[in-house]
Amino acid sequence: MKYSIYTIGCQMNVYDSEKLASILNSCGFDRTDDMDKADVVVCNTCSIRHKAEEKAYSFLGRFARIKKKKPHLITVMAGCVAQQEGEKAFERVPHLDIVLGTRAFERFSRHIRAIQSGSSRIADIEDSAMIYESLPDSECFEGNQVSKFVTIMQGCENFCTYCVVPYVRGRERSRKPEHIIEEIRLLADSGVKEVTLLGQNVNSYGRKEGGISFSELLKKINDIAGILRIRFATSHPKDLSMDLMHAVRDCEKVCNHLHLPVQSGSDVILKKMNRGYTRQYYLNKIDELKEQCPDISLSTDIIVGFPSETMADFNDTMDLIRKVEFDSIFAFAYSNRSSAPAAKFPDQVGEKEKLDRLNLLLQLQEGFTEKKNKAQIGKTLEVLVEGKSSKKHDGFVPLEKNMEQMTGRTVSNKIVHFPSARVNIGDVVRIRIEEAYPHSLWGYPEFD
Ligand code: SAH
Ligand code: SF4
Ligand code: F3S
Repeated sequence: MKYSIYTIGCQMNVYDSEKLASILNSCGFDRTDDMDKADVVVCNTCSIRHKAEEKAYSFLGRFARIKKKKPHLITVMAGCVAQQEGEKAFERVPHLDIVLGTRAFERFSRHIRAIQSGSSRIADIEDSAMIYESLPDSECFEGNQVSKFVTIMQGCENFCTYCVVPYVRGRERSRKPEHIIEEIRLLADSGVKEVTLLGQNVNSYGRKEGGISFSELLKKINDIAGILRIRFATSHPKDLSMDLMHAVRDCEKVCNHLHLPVQSGSDVILKKMNRGYTRQYYLNKIDELKEQCPDISLSTDIIVGFPSETMADFNDTMDLIRKVEFDSIFAFAYSNRSSAPAAKFPDQVGEKEKLDRLNLLLQLQEGFTEKKNKAQIGKTLEVLVEGKSSKKHDGFVPLEKNMEQMTGRTVSNKIVHFPSARVNIGDVVRIRIEEAYPHSLWGYPEFD
C-alpha cells in the first residue's frame, strides 16, 4: 500500500507534510511520487491568498479521476484550507474521505483506519492538547537532506487585519525547549547541518508558557554538535528585541541574516493592518540591527494594494525599500480573505492597480538585488553544499573526471553554483565568487 503527499504553502506546511508522511509510514504505507500508484493521496493546503486556495481545489479535483478507477483510494485534504472549511469542503469536493485540520494530526491514523474499515467521510478540525510531540523520521524527509525546518511554535495571535493565519492555525503555543532540542539532536545525528526554526512570530517564543526566551533557545541550539547553521523565520518587527540582535551577533552558528516583514511603508496602512509599529520604528530597528550585526543581510515581505492604499501610501513603501536596500523581498498583491477583517474594509483597490504597483515594486527591488549580488564578486564565501545543480551554467566545463556542477547557500542565504569533483553534500566549502545573476552566484572552490 502506498501514499502520495502534495504540499502547497509555507515552510510550516513542508514540515507538517513530513509529519503526515511519518504517520502514514507507521500505518504501513510506503511513499510514491506517482499519484496513480497511491492508495492514500493527501493534499496539504494553504489559504493565505486566493490563488493558493484555488490551487488546492484544482489539485483535489484531480483525485476524482483516480478514485473512479480505484474506489478504495483514500483522499485527504489537510492543512489550512481544510481547517477553514471543515465539513463544507465536502460540498465542493464530494469525493473527499478525510478533511484534516491543522491541529488534528494526532488523530490522523485513527481516521485512516476508520475509512479503511468502511466508515463514512470524516471532517476533523478539532484542537489537540499536544503539538508536534512525535520525533522526526528521516525516512520521510522531503527534498534537501542537509537543511531542515523545525516548527517551534504553532498559531498566531497578532491578528493582522488581512491575514487568515490566526483563524486557521489557532492560538499561539510554543513547543517545549527540550522537545525542540531533542529533535534537532536527532536531525544532526542523521546528517542534517542546517536548521530553520519556524513560527509566525518567533520573537514571542515561550512568552505565554513562561519558559526560556527565543534568544535563550538559540543559545542552546548553538551548542548542538553537528549543526553548522541556524536560521529562523518569521520575526515580527514589534517584538524584535536587542536581546535577539545580540544572540544573532554572538551565536556563531546563527546566520547573519534576518527576515523582517514590514508589509507597508505607510503609517496609515500599517495602522489599518494592525501591525503594531510605525514606519519610523521599523527604520530604527533596521539601524539598530545594522549597528549590532554589521553586514547583516535583510529580507522582507510586502503587501501592495491593501484596502484604501493610495499612490502616496504606495510611494512610502517604495521609499522604504530604497532606504533599507533589502537583499531580497517577497511581494504580494493584497488578496481578500473572507475570514479576515480587511475583507470588509472600504475602498478596495482594483486588481489592475494592484498588479501595476506590484510590478513597480519588483522592478525597483531587482536593482537592489542585483547590486547586492554584484557586491559579492571577488569575495570568498562559505557555502553549505546542498546537492547537484539542476541547470548547468554556461561556464561549466568538467575538467576532471567526476566533476559536477554543485549548488549550495551562503550564510546570507544566496544560492551559489560551482564546479567540483571533490565535495560532498553537507560540506562547507569556500567559494570565490566570479559572476552574479539575479537569483544566484557562480564561482570556483578554494581548497586549502
Ligand atoms: N507571520 C509572518 C507571515 C505569515 S504569512 C509575518 O507576520 O510576517 C506570509 C506573508 O504572506 C505575509 O508576510 C504577508 O506579506 C503575506 N500575506 C498574508 N496575508 C495576505 C493577504 N491576504 N494578501 C496578500 N498577502 C498576504
Ligand atoms: Fe498573519 Fe500577522 Fe500573524 Fe504574521 S503576524 S501570521 S501576518 S496575523
Ligand atoms: Fe502557511 Fe498558508 Fe497556512 S502560509 S500557515 S500554509 S495559510
